[in-house]
Amino acid sequence: MRIVHDVADLRHQIDAWRASGERIALVPTMGALHDGHLSLVRRAAEHADRCVATVFVNPTQFDDASDLERYPRTLERDAEQLTTVGCDLLFAPAASTVYPPGASTWIDVDGPTTGYEGAMRPGHFRGVATVVGLLFNLVRPDVAIFGRKDAQQLAVVRKLSRDLHLGIEIIGAPIVREPDGLAMSSRNVHLGSDDRLAARALSRGLRAARDAIQAGERDSATLEAHVRAVLEAEPRVEAIDYIALVDADTFAPLVTARGSIALVLAARVGGVRLLDNLSIDLDAAVLEDDLPREDDLSREDLGTDVSTPISQIATA
Ligand code: PAJ
Repeated sequence: MRIVHDVADLRHQIDAWRASGERIALVPTMGALHDGHLSLVRRAAEHADRCVATVFVNPTQFDDASDLERYPRTLERDAEQLTTVGCDLLFAPAASTVYPPGASTWIDVDGPTTGYEGAMRPGHFRGVATVVGLLFNLVRPDVAIFGRKDAQQLAVVRKLSRDLHLGIEIIGAPIVREPDGLAMSSRNVHLGSDDRLAARALSRGLRAARDAIQAGERDSATLEAHVRAVLEAEPRVEAIDYIALVDADTFAPLVTARGSIALVLAARVGGVRLLDNLSIDLDAAVLEDDLPREDDLSREDLGTDVSTPISQIATA
């Protein structure tokens, strides 16, 4: 795998691949890579001949300067991991390369940026859309892979690509989870051990809603209440920022679940803000989601007393 830091080197390599007719996939990241990120690179191989990953901690999407400061930077380790999953090129630019002095152009996406993360983190999606637009322009990929973990970001990127006629196919990849259901995130390392156990409530709440959907429930208030009941039963969940059933493409709230939906939530556990969601296409012949089934969760993974029946663990 080649590592490049400059635009000229990036373009040179991409032009060579394009000249030989190769299809190019882009996987943008902010580094501190885990299996969730690596799954995107693996998926890229299904859609393209070459995979370009980017590691860039984008300053313009942080609404909190200390959060930006604290963000883990592990480029050497990231590069090693990317090599193991067949990434061809890592673009790891400096901030001054992405935003040359005096840069003052922004991409503002209306619509799916309204509410939820858009409301909780003012300016966040403006920074995301701007950097993703810049990366799309620098790499000009045929296809780009984003995680459904950040469902609202995925909706914003899809809209950006459509509205600007970029012609880039946007793939949403399933959420990769820890064995007990917690969605992988670079923030999970900040959870103390009790909070780490308590954080299972997020995916457990979504499983309760998933089971209700499978049983035919479509009312958003009822589905949201299923999730809320599980989260409120866990004392270590300090705050629920939102639980909402939305259209996965527009992020408009739904009264009745239909089509491609996302049941999104953000909650704080032990001072750590965690996101999770259940994305399902209700028009599909078989309803599929990326939550574990109850019987996929071994008692050891759940870290609970083996005398507790698993059905009680899952719904407690
Ligand atoms: P980052 O948080 O590093 O995430 C990079 C990509 O990995 C995103 O598409 C995200 O949805 C995906 N991802 C994270 N955790 C995942 C998981 N458990 N399973 C599957 N995919 C997962 O998202 C960003 O960076 C930035 O906003 C970026 C798009 C790079 C723009 O700066």
